[in-house]
Parts: sequence; C-alpha cells; structure tokens
Amino acid sequence: MATTTATPWWVRWREAEGATILHVDLTPDAEREACAVALLDGAERSRRRRFLAARARREFALCRAALRVVLAERLGCSKRQLGFGYLEHGKPFATVDGRRADIGFNVSHSGRHGLIAIAEHRPAAAPEHGRVEQLGVDVEERRPRKDLEGIGSLVFSPAERRLLAAAADDNRRRLFYRLWSLKEALIKAVGTGFSLSPRGIELPAPMLRGARTGEFRFSDSPAETWRLVDLGERRFAAALAYRMPGSPVSG
Ligand SMILES: CC(C)(COP(=O)(O)OP(=O)(O)OC[C@H]1O[C@@H](n2cnc3c(N)ncnc32)[C@H](O)[C@@H]1OP(=O)(O)O)[C@@H](O)C(=O)NCCC(=O)NCCS
Repeated sequence: MATTTATPWWVRWREAEGATILHVDLTPDAEREACAVALLDGAERSRRRRFLAARARREFALCRAALRVVLAERLGCSKRQLGFGYLEHGKPFATVDGRRADIGFNVSHSGRHGLIAIAEHRPAAAPEHGRVEQLGVDVEERRPRKDLEGIGSLVFSPAERRLLAAAADDNRRRLFYRLWSLKEALIKAVGTGFSLSPRGIELPAPMLRGARTGEFRFSDSPAETWRLVDLGERRFAAALAYRMPGSPVSG
C-alpha cells in the first residue's frame, strides 16, 4: 500500500472452500478513486477512460487496484512485474514477467459492492479441497426490478420459474437474485460469457430447496464437476463457483 494514501477500500471478507473472498467498497469517494487510478497501469487507465458511465469507471478502478495490490502480495512480485492477459471471452488472468501466474481469481461488482475471489492453484492452498480452479464469483445488489418474470423467462429453467412463481412477493426478489448469482458465478467460472445460455443451466435440486452448496455437471461433459457456493447475505446476493479437483478441463 506504499503508493496509496487512502485507507484500503477492500477487506478480506471470508474464506470459502480454499478461496479467499475480498469485499471491495464501491461507495463513491474521489480520494479513493484517485488512489486506485494511481495503481493502474497505462492499458488499464486507457480502458477506464473508455467507460462512459462514472459508475463503471469507479467499479473497474477500485476493483482492479485492489486486485493488483493483493495479487502482487500473494505472488511476491512487484507492481511492475504483474500484468493481466485475457482469454477469448474476456476473462482476465494474471501474469508475472509476462508468464501466466499459478493463481486463479475472478471479480464482480454491483452497486456499492465488489467481490474478488482468489485461489492459488496449489494443492497446499486448500488441502481439504485440493485444487480450486476456474473460479467464478458474482455479487448482485437486490435492487427492485419491474419485470422479474420477463427477465426470469430468459435466464431460468422451467423448474426455477415455477419456484419463483410460487414464492411469496417479498421472497421472490430475494430468490430471483439468489438463483441469478449462482448461475452467473458458474458462467463466469466456465469463462465463456454469453455463449453459455443461463436457461439451459438447471441448478442442483438441493440448492433450489435452500442448500448453500451444491454440485453441477453439464450434460455434454458429465465427468466435469462444478462446485457452487451461495455467499448471499443481508446486503447482497452472491455466489462462488469453481471446477472441482480431478475434473478434466473442457474444450
Ligand atoms: C463478463 C460477464 C461474464 C459478466 O459481466 P457482468 O454481469 O457485467 O459482471 P460482473 O460485475 O459480475 O463481472 C465483471 C468482471 O468479470 C470479469 N470477466 C470479464 N469477462 C469474463 C468472462 N468471460 N468470464 C468470467 N469473468 C469475466 C472481469 O474481471 C470483469 O470485471 P473488470 O472488467 O472490472 O475486470 C458477461 O459476459 C455477462 O454478463 N454474461 C452474462 C451471462 C448471463 O446471461 N447472465 C444472466 C444471469 S445468469
């Protein structure tokens, strides 16, 4: 933190199954944002400038700067040695001196809340769970939306839609965001973005009944198991997903 003067705007929020999850405070704060921008490299600053909305600029700068500081610490490298590359659908990965680093991470932001999940790709990082790979994290503020049903018909399976239709009004929004964040975390773990249809993902039945963790397999790659963890709390819905140890890499 030598290059910043603002108090860190992120905290270690929780540990989940071998991954560390940071919470990033995205409340507007000009001093913090200036400190964050100072931590970005040239490419990141240009990217930030290309966002039209002030909110998007803030989310990117505060999360990316937090990620930079924490990854450099975990990887034992300098800010200059640390870089980022991008997979085909835009999922970022870390590099040290241009070589891909043995660490997984994923970032999500929604309103005043950002989450960063980080897991080292070493068995020792999670002896009880082995390797935590291909991570995805999602956070969603539960803001009111007028057309829950319409949006739901685009992203939820028939069973999930029935569950939503049966929920009492005040529970419906909570359930909507819970299911949404679980699917989004899974899509982000896989890394293929919009090319994977959320409607085709049927969340594990125990999770639909309220379980906080579950396992998922895509029908076209049944040997691969994805672990889902509901991280939701009072302030937001959130979820973590990762590919289970021993599962072959798809594609
Ligand atoms: C990137 C994507 C996966 C998520 O975007 P989003 O909802 O705006 O965003 P989040 O805030 O959760 O995540 C954004 C972060 O994910 C990371 N990311 C970018 N592309 C990614 C990808 N293909 N896979 C995983 N993570 C990705 C980036 O770190 C990005 O933050 P940054 O630009 O500040 O570094 C996007 O492809 C998407 O929205 N897919 C939607 C899938 C869908 O239909 N969802 C409906 C509900 S289930």
